[in-house]
Amino acid sequence: MSAILVTGAAGFVGSRASKELVRQGHSVVGVDNFNDYYNPEFKEQNIKDVKVRLYREDIRNFAGLQKIFSENKIDKIVHLAAMVGVRPSIQNPFIYEEVNVRGTLNLLELARHNKIKKFVFASSSSVYGNRDKVPFSEDDITNSPISPYAATKKAGELLCCTYSSLYRIPSVCLRLFTVYGPCGRSDMAPYKFVDSIANGRQIEMYGDGSTRRDYTFIADVVSGIMKSMDLDAQYEIINLGCGNPVELREFIGIIEKNLGKKAKIVKEKMQPGDVKQTYADISKAKKLLGYSPKTKVEEGLRILCEWYMENRFKR
Ligand SMILES: NC(=O)c1ccc[n+]([C@@H]2O[C@H](COP(=O)([O-])OP(=O)(O)OC[C@H]3O[C@@H](n4cnc5c(N)ncnc54)[C@H](O)[C@@H]3O)[C@@H](O)[C@H]2O)c1
Repeated sequence: MSAILVTGAAGFVGSRASKELVRQGHSVVGVDNFNDYYNPEFKEQNIKDVKVRLYREDIRNFAGLQKIFSENKIDKIVHLAAMVGVRPSIQNPFIYEEVNVRGTLNLLELARHNKIKKFVFASSSSVYGNRDKVPFSEDDITNSPISPYAATKKAGELLCCTYSSLYRIPSVCLRLFTVYGPCGRSDMAPYKFVDSIANGRQIEMYGDGSTRRDYTFIADVVSGIMKSMDLDAQYEIINLGCGNPVELREFIGIIEKNLGKKAKIVKEKMQPGDVKQTYADISKAKKLLGYSPKTKVEEGLRILCEWYMENRFKR
């Protein structure tokens, strides 16, 4: 039976997508290097009950990836492995380029040589940079990313475009918008806020709280990824957001309500690389994928807080 290769399989999105693929009856091969960008123990927990054939490999290692392809009959790739995070990419751009650009190129080369039927790539809303015009549409010009991370995601999209055109590899680049939910990344604001408020620690709020993010619940993102695997298209860029931006202040307020605790907020300056707002135009995803995000932020944060209290809170 053909298998689907999921890179970054132990990560937040990768583990949830792998779980859903397995649930749908697919055979899944996972690749992850379990790096310590955030606690690798969390990655072990994410993937431990998911029945994938797991390789602890680095996507920068072309020979290592070749071996995985020789040992498995892979016909689709969901490429989620990446160095993530905007601010750290400013401190250490080289590893972002190595993993996100070279690693993506490695996978596209293998897609080419193994006649892959679908290449799904996780891009990011960050490619839109800082802009006032909302919502962000796939047709907008994205030539001004404001962090190395965003620039490497744009580079990944361009490489997918090139490989799709040269070798007819059907490719979909999904621009994900601030994903949150159970198994969420411990370096991201939603998890950090829940963690700190639950434990009575201070939270840092960058800016005056009026920045807006189009927070997207993990189950909705996973449904978009699943639908994109069946899309009959040569090359498409598609936003996967919620289409409903929420101010940071309000976001924190919903967490406070769910945890029954007040946040101790320390105001900090906006950080380099941070954009003022994200807001996805999801009409293309609706039209091409039949994507329809179901989870409002109140509900999504309730689920995140419950999961956190059960799985991560130390009494
Ligand atoms: N979570 C979000 O809000 C969000 C938003 C936009 C885009 N994305 C993109 O979605 C994808 C998944 O993000 P996530 O939030 O699940 O992040 P994550 O860090 O939880 O998952 C990425 C996984 O890739 C693995 N990885 C990193 N470098 C690797 C390498 N060299 N070789 C093999 N594995 C490696 C990591 O160990 C990690 O498990 C990423 O490509 C990210 O850029 C995520």
